[in-house]
Amino acid sequence: MKKIKAISIISAVIGVGTLVGCGGKESPGRVYMPDMAYSRAYETYALQDSTVITTDVTKRGGSAIYYNAKPVRGTIKRGELFPYDVPNTPEGYIQSAGVQNPIADMSVIEMPEAKRLYQINCAVCHGDKADGQGPLATSGKVGGIANLTLPMYTGMADGTMFHSLTYGRGLMGSYASQLDRRQRWMVINYLRTLQPAPTTAPAAAATADTTKKG
Ligand code: HEC
Repeated sequence: MKKIKAISIISAVIGVGTLVGCGGKESPGRVYMPDMAYSRAYETYALQDSTVITTDVTKRGGSAIYYNAKPVRGTIKRGELFPYDVPNTPEGYIQSAGVQNPIADMSVIEMPEAKRLYQINCAVCHGDKADGQGPLATSGKVGGIANLTLPMYTGMADGTMFHSLTYGRGLMGSYASQLDRRQRWMVINYLRTLQPAPTTAPAAAATADTTKKG
């Protein structure tokens, strides 16, 4: 009985103490986690209204948030090759011979993929051996298909080939939408493995204007 009395007195003391401890009206009492007692309220970006989104760069500012899901001008995706900005003009064609192949040292591991891309996109005309004897050529459906094993093409600069694949050439359409920049260079690297060694110096032959062949 004594024990129960003692327990109830002790708990009454603790209870009252606790209530009194919490009862401070003005002061928060002992503050041991100030960040919780006094929250740091950040100002919102009050000027901008998240319901007003504009894709028009000239209308940015004020309450409108400018967002168009496009990469920022002048930026390039990580791992992406530089954009090809040689123009699609006769001068651009000649200039393209000076464009370096950025993946000239492509690893052999990528060669099977380059071959696959060539067979899907190119072999139908140029043939598995690049000799211009693909099914579309032998059936006579498309004329003038280049035999890419000729000296004129073995000596052609990678840059010129890339230019023609990007913009198209004669009866050959552009491959810019089917093959991304890296894939176009990969296909060129594979094409080189099908060609015999060049008989002329690449730089000299590359500037030859192939449009003059008739
Ligand atoms: C529809 C048939 C066709 C397909 C498919 C095709 N080509 Fe061509 N290609 C041609 C023809 C036709 C020419 C000749 C263009 C000319 O000189 O008038 C040509 C020319 C070329 C040239 C020489 C370009 C130049 O500047 O003279 C290269 C290099 C070439 N092709 C590579 C490729 C590669 C690589 C692919 C696959 C990505 C491909 N071609 C797919 C028909 C094709």
